[in-house]
Amino acid sequence: MAESDDQYDVIGKAYERAKFIPTGLAEQATLLSALPDLSGKAVLDVACGTGFYPRKFVDLGAARVVGVDSSHEMVAYARSVEARESRGITYHRVDAAELPVLGEFDVVTAVWLLGYADDPAALDRMAGNLAGNLAPGGILAVVVPNPDADWDVLPGDYGRYGYQVVQTGELTFRMPVSVRVLGKPPFAFDSFFWPAGAFDGALERAGLTTVTRQPTVVPDDDRGAEFWATLARSPSFAVFTAERAADR
Ligand SMILES: C[S@@+](CC[C@H](N)C(=O)[O-])C[C@H]1O[C@@H](n2cnc3c(N)ncnc32)[C@H](O)[C@@H]1O
Repeated sequence: MAESDDQYDVIGKAYERAKFIPTGLAEQATLLSALPDLSGKAVLDVACGTGFYPRKFVDLGAARVVGVDSSHEMVAYARSVEARESRGITYHRVDAAELPVLGEFDVVTAVWLLGYADDPAALDRMAGNLAGNLAPGGILAVVVPNPDADWDVLPGDYGRYGYQVVQTGELTFRMPVSVRVLGKPPFAFDSFFWPAGAFDGALERAGLTTVTRQPTVVPDDDRGAEFWATLARSPSFAVFTAERAADR
């Protein structure tokens, strides 16, 4: 493997560990339970990162999967996995605020994208671009920072789920935070929490219908309901779905 591939491997492996800590497992369970059956479907994943969800969507039966991300490193890592274990996924480096229409997709996903919009106008552009890639009757699902999170929980007790979120600046149209992924090796990245109504409002202004906050789903595992109770009440994430009308 070339040296640059090694570098992407390190980034990618560190990143994907966050999908298997408890909060990552609950994120997966909540998102996947909100999606329709993917068998035979065309799926676009925007802000695909390492390609974790695009690979999962193929494994769940999707016929055509396209991933896009604005980061050279993330796209390079996703492509390096595709080169190693081909699933027929294509990746493009594109900024979601400038995303063109790549096709008519039955399902469009954007996991941890919308919080990164630079301002409310960019949020509306991103939402419009996600909507523009949906086939009539298609479904959009987004994972965003939970607008209703309990801020007594996220910086502290939420650590039992492998993750802590600490406010790093003032709330303007969004609130800057540092997300700390605990465990070995620990790492942190910047994110932004937006107030209630920001994300669902943008999806509605993009012309989508049935904008719905999906119920949080926690894994049914041997850690039991008591372990998961705090996350179920105040997850760090929220999943919204919306639909492009069939006759638009
Ligand atoms: C927290 S990661 C999540 C990656 C992936 N969705 C996942 O859940 O594994 C956020 C991703 O959003 C991408 N991103 C941030 N701003 C973006 C933009 N304007 N357009 C496209 N991708 C963006 C980053 O490069 C990064 O890969």
